[in-house]
Amino acid sequence: MEMRGADVTSIRDFGRGDLEEIFAATDRITDMEPGRRRQLCAGKSLGYLFFEPSTRTRLSFEAAMASVGGTSFGISDKESSSAQKGESLADVVRMMSIYSDAMVLRHSLDGSSRFAAQVSDKPVINGGSGTEEHPTQAIQDLYTMRKVCGKIDGLTIGIVGDLKYGRTVYSLLHGLGNYDVNVYLVSPESLRIRADSVYDIKKKTEYVESDNLNECIDALDVVYVTRVQRERFPDVEEYLKVRGSYVIGADMLKKMKEKAVVMHPLPRVDEIAPEVDSTPAARYFEQARYGMDTRAALLALILGDGDL
Ligand code: NCD
Repeated sequence: MEMRGADVTSIRDFGRGDLEEIFAATDRITDMEPGRRRQLCAGKSLGYLFFEPSTRTRLSFEAAMASVGGTSFGISDKESSSAQKGESLADVVRMMSIYSDAMVLRHSLDGSSRFAAQVSDKPVINGGSGTEEHPTQAIQDLYTMRKVCGKIDGLTIGIVGDLKYGRTVYSLLHGLGNYDVNVYLVSPESLRIRADSVYDIKKKTEYVESDNLNECIDALDVVYVTRVQRERFPDVEEYLKVRGSYVIGADMLKKMKEKAVVMHPLPRVDEIAPEVDSTPAARYFEQARYGMDTRAALLALILGDGDL
């Protein structure tokens, strides 16, 4: 796909070749002399519209844009924008497409980024839409696997936690569909992957569902842990029943393969005990770093003059 000027609304638009192009650009940009790196998007601006809380996604986009010489500005919560006065998403997006060269949108509704891309004449990047998609997180997750495991093909990956509401899970599964991997989906019964998404995922990836992490933990190369998405539960009682279902602590690490790694899109609440942080298996902070690098590469590919 042509990356220059492209929207990034869904990971499903990216084939293996596109992903490999982004990974190779990330490798190049990481090794690049900072002065040269700052030329890549010099004079360009990135607008962000974040209608849901965020730490890493917004900050890593800002840091990424600064590292390639661009600027960023925007709205980081619903309350501080005119959306609060009843302005439509379409109008907010139209305004941002006047002020900036590209924008990142995070919104609680599925389809919000696709809608924004239709309204905007500047590229729109999905920074998380509803429970549906978080494509740049998937790019960062796949890049992390490639970096820390050396390759993605052949890996056995366990995705653990909230598979019903976790949007990173869906984007990651669609991204993994480009590779030859074995997947275990581990969740409480009530948080299994949504039936409406299973069909497409099954076409490309074989997976086994389970509610018992102990059944597969010793087979995994990657343990991808997710937060139970409390804010998306219609009923808090249902949340209370499943919170803390799986906790990765020292006992779990002992059951893992020697070289297995633990990943997490973050924020974590109680799914990974702090004692894991200092072990070689813990890769979630490194993963967050790759979020900045992959986003810098993506911005340079979308906005740059092709010299990357
Ligand atoms: C995720 C999200 O917003 O979907 N956060 C992130 O961007 N790393 C995961 C989460 O909130 O649990």
